[in-house]
Order: sequence, then structure tokens, then C-alpha cells
Amino acid sequence: MLRTHTAGALRSSDIGNTVTLTGWVNNRRDHGGIIFVDLRDSYGITQVVFDPSEEAGAHKAAEALRSEWVIQVTGKVRGRGEGLENPKLDTGDIELIVSELKVLNAAKTPPFDVDIDKDIREDLRLEYRYLDLRRPRLQKNLKLRHDMMRVIREYFDQNQFLEIETPIMVKGTPEGSREYLVPSRVHRGEFYVLPQSPQQLKQLLMCGGVDRYFQIARCFRDEDLRGDRQPEFTQFEIEMSFVNEEDIIQMIEGCFHDLTKKCAPQKNWESYLDNGKFKRMTWLEAMSTYGSDKPDIRFEMKFTDLTDEKSDCGFGVFEKCQHLFCMRVPDGTKLSRKDIDNLTKLAQSHGAGGLAWVRVGEDSGPVMKNANTAFIETLVKKTESQDGDLIFFGAGDFHQATEPLGQVRLAVGDKFELRSADEFAYLWVTDFPMFEKKDDGTIQAAHHPFTMPHKEDLDKLTSDTMSVRSYAYDIVLNGVELGGGSIRIHDQELQHKIFETFGMSEDEIQLKFGHMLKAFQFGCPPHGGCAMGLDRVVMLFADEPNIREVIAFPKNQSAQDLMLGAPSRMPEKEVSEQNIAVLPEEE
Ligand code: AMO
Ligand code: AMP
Repeated sequence: MLRTHTAGALRSSDIGNTVTLTGWVNNRRDHGGIIFVDLRDSYGITQVVFDPSEEAGAHKAAEALRSEWVIQVTGKVRGRGEGLENPKLDTGDIELIVSELKVLNAAKTPPFDVDIDKDIREDLRLEYRYLDLRRPRLQKNLKLRHDMMRVIREYFDQNQFLEIETPIMVKGTPEGSREYLVPSRVHRGEFYVLPQSPQQLKQLLMCGGVDRYFQIARCFRDEDLRGDRQPEFTQFEIEMSFVNEEDIIQMIEGCFHDLTKKCAPQKNWESYLDNGKFKRMTWLEAMSTYGSDKPDIRFEMKFTDLTDEKSDCGFGVFEKCQHLFCMRVPDGTKLSRKDIDNLTKLAQSHGAGGLAWVRVGEDSGPVMKNANTAFIETLVKKTESQDGDLIFFGAGDFHQATEPLGQVRLAVGDKFELRSADEFAYLWVTDFPMFEKKDDGTIQAAHHPFTMPHKEDLDKLTSDTMSVRSYAYDIVLNGVELGGGSIRIHDQELQHKIFETFGMSEDEIQLKFGHMLKAFQFGCPPHGGCAMGLDRVVMLFADEPNIREVIAFPKNQSAQDLMLGAPSRMPEKEVSEQNIAVLPEEE
């Protein structure tokens, strides 16, 4: 080793010893002839001192030092002297008085300060990610991510899971998003795709007699990016044979108990438990109580369903709509007219026709002016409102009446500071619908097409398709979907029928899923599983606002790696070798 100690190791017990440290110049201060350098490595910071009266040569050489130079220093550890200790540093009681300095590598002036924790333009951080990674924030996040992966591996290992790697070059896995294609040079016109998840392969492992599978797997999806989405991300995910939904939920929940206790002990999570377990609610309950399939249950403001009370209420918008929900905001006087206008815009941007409201005890706004007294009385009674409360309404079809109001609820929760990062409110949402409508009116699987429909809903597959529920469940933390899974279909006839329900032709079914249907005919066991987005879980554990902060080398919001410069043009020869021609840009 080029050092005897790390920059985080020395304490007062080392005083008097001669040691060698290595690291980066975090900063350099010249105090009347004496030079102080904060020497940084990934373990900490140690103050090193160059005093001309101790060692003139080292002092002279230290004059040239600049931020981010890599150095090796040898010297004696000494106490800092009374009143000069730095309680912010683990090494704050001591300093190193340098007798020998060696510059291991000089550095250009960095494009941003590495030593100060301030906001820096993200594109710059990503272009110079190796400098960004030197900062304590990212060093801490990488360590946390490593610790969490270790806890996850230990947990599943202790529960008899086998960690099995599945291939990255696979066949299309239609799970909703666009896929990344890999051209085949040898098989002209044919492509591999990068897996959106190991979904089909883990099911085929169950067919292969593996009882419990787990993997920390890289997944690829070419989708619109947001703070909690990357084109390339990591799942920790499982599949189990001979299980029901309860077995999987309990297995995953145990993992989160371990993770929270070991990696986020400072969070308040136990007060949200129900008899020691994560709370649960069905998808229908989540939507009609919180207007979201991933409710943030750190705060109340639950909805009231007024659909049965709205006929002849006197207010046209409500009388005409299919569903009417409302949400009571206690202390609504804290929200001004301008706040209400902003919330209305928010609701409209999520598909609402508007955001009707009532101030309890005040004769203002269109609802109060038009609705009859009986309706207002029922409203106040049913919502247990008091004067000063504000009530917002969502009217429309089920989604229009709930989802925009759910967004309003979150915005009010933020404004009233009810969403503290110190709280960890886990929740299972179960019984998702089997199908959902796409914008073009066709249907697709709400989770994925391998999900088992509820037994008692099977006879509605063709007659009342949209009402069929499934054995699909999501795990949610503070309003973020951490993961999801389902019990799978293992019967080829039922699987075939589900594909038909999507309107797929026999040819299409065989082309896309023939291999799954074939495998199910050879004694496939009942099975199910679940997958969690590792990046999202680490993001919440690290109190970070987006997943890029917990990924060593993330892509930016336009799916580019600014450090490597990817994607990039390739030499024409290499492209044509892959039997590919790039189309000219459209005018
Ligand atoms: P699903 O598509 O719900 O399920 O994905 C599981 C979890 O993966 C995370 N995730 C993402 N994280 C970052 N960037 C993305 N682009 C991204 N997309 C998804 C989320 C999500 O909850 N095969 C099924 C699982 C199963 O049924 O076992 C699947 O992939 O946290
Ligand atoms: P309007 O009839 O468009 O003048 O709307 C009267 C009030 O009802 C306004 O406060 C609107 O924001 C509200 N409103 C209109 N449509 C809806 C809807 N679908 N859901 C909730 N409120 C609505």
C-alpha cells in the first residue's frame, strides 16, 4: 500500500506516531507561512500541516498544491491543541505535521468545487461524473446501495433462494414499454432485445424445477424518463413455486423489515404497521380513498364517495357525472383563492373538467350558490366537516373523479408539510384490475399478460372484461411504487384465452409467446413472484429526490451518458456489417 492509514482513521491515540497518508487535496489554506491542506479520501478527511520551521522542503513543495491534486504525505501525528479541535471531523482531534510530500498526480482546475456541497448544474455533474462521485453525498449513496444489496442477498440466501443470472440478449418481453433492439450480424434482419425484466425467464426457471429464484437484475426500457425512471435500471426480484399471494407478500415484506432495520433505523416506520405488518388495501379502496394506486398514507385527507347523494343536488356538473368524490381539507382557510386556482390547474392537467370547491360555513363559489340545502347538509355530515374546512370535488368517470383529486391531495399535503421524509409508510395495494384501456381504446394488461385473474371473475373475461380483478400486488412507500408482482398463469389454456382477450391473432400469439405456451404443457408448477426497483428503494432510503443520485453512472433526462458520450455514431462499416442502414433525417 502507498499509505499506512486512510484519511479517516487517525485518532488521538495515534499521536506521536509517524504515518503515511494518500488522497486528494480537498482544499489548501495558507496561514502566514504555514500551509494547511485538508487531505481527502473515501474514508474521510485529515488536516495536514506544512510548517517551514519543521520541514522547509515539504513546505516549499506544498505551495504548488491545488485542489484535487493527488498526494502522498509522511509525517508525525500531533494533537490539534486546545480549542482548535474540529468536532465535525472524525479525525478532528489530530493533524499531521508533514516531513515528506510526494505529488502522485496533478489536476486541472475542476469545473466545479468538489469540496462544497452545493447545487451544481446536473449536466456538468454528469459530464464529469468521476469528479461528482468524489463528493461525500455520492460516496455515501454508493455505500448505502452496497449495504442494501448485501442485506437483500443475505435475506434471500437465508430463505433458500438461488441467485441465478438470466440472459441480457433475449426475445421481446411485451410488458408495456418500448424495447432496446440489438441487431444480429449473423441472422440478417433479426434482432435480440434487451430485457424489460427477467419476467418470462424466471417463470421458465419455475418450469425448470427451481423452487425459489432471486436476482439483482439489470432491466432496460426505452420509455419517457422522469425522476424515478432510467432507461437502464436495477430490480431485485424473486419467483417462487407452489405459493399463493400471501406467501410472496410475506417473503418480500420480511426483506423490507430487514432493510429498514439495518439501513434506515432512523425512520419512523413501526407506527404505520398493522399488528406488526405493512398495511394493505385493495386497488379499488386505494383509488376511491386516495385517488391513487400508490397512496401516500403518511397523512389522512381521505375521500368521501358522494355518488349516491348527487342526483337532484341542484349543481349541474355533479348531477350529470358518473361518479362524485370529495375531499375535506381541515383548516382550509390556509388555502387562498390563488392556491385554489393553482390546484384547479393541477387537477385539469390530470384530466379533470375543473375543481369545484366549497368553503364550509361560507356562501361562496358556484357549488354553494347552486346546490340545494339538503345536499350541502349531507355533504357536511358525511365528511364530518366544520366551519373553515375546504371541500374539493372530483366529478366524471371513475378515473376522472379520483385521480385529479388524488393529485390535489398530494399538493395540499406538500403545502401543509404533511409528507416528512422521516416517516416511512409502507403499504401493499392488492387486487389490481387485470386489464386497462390504452388511449386508443384497446385493452392491455394492467400488470402483465402472465398475471392470474381472480378465480371468481373468470366467467367475466368476455362479458365484463374491465371488471376482472387479478392476483397482482404492489408495494408502496410514501406514495412511491417500489415494486410489484403477481401470481402467474401456469395453465396454457387460460394463458391462451388471456392473449385472445387482448385481440391477438393465433399467429401473433404463437410468434410472441409460443415458447411460454409450449413450456406450460410440460408440467409447469403454480408460481408467482415480485420485483422491486432497487434504485427507487435506495433513493428513498437515502432521502434523495431522484434515482440518478443513487446510480454511479446514470443517463440524463434525454437518455444520454454525457461522460462517455453515448449514444454515438458508429463507423459506417460497423453499422452495415450489422445489416443496418440509417435512414436520412426527415425534412
Ligand atoms: P414492473 O414493470 O412493475 O414489474 O417493475 C417493477 C419495479 O421496477 C421499477 N421500475 C423502474 N425503475 C427505474 N426506472 C424504470 N424505467 C423502471 N421501470 C420499473 C419500479 C417497479 O415497481 N416483471 C414484473 C415484476 C413481476 O411481476 O415479478 C415487472 O417488471 O420500482
Ligand atoms: P363550470 O360549470 O365549468 O363553470 O364549473 C363550475 C365549477 O365546477 C368550477 O369551480 C369548476 O372548476 C368545477 N368543475 C367543472 N367540472 C368539474 C369536474 N368534472 N369535477 C370537479 N369540478 C368541476
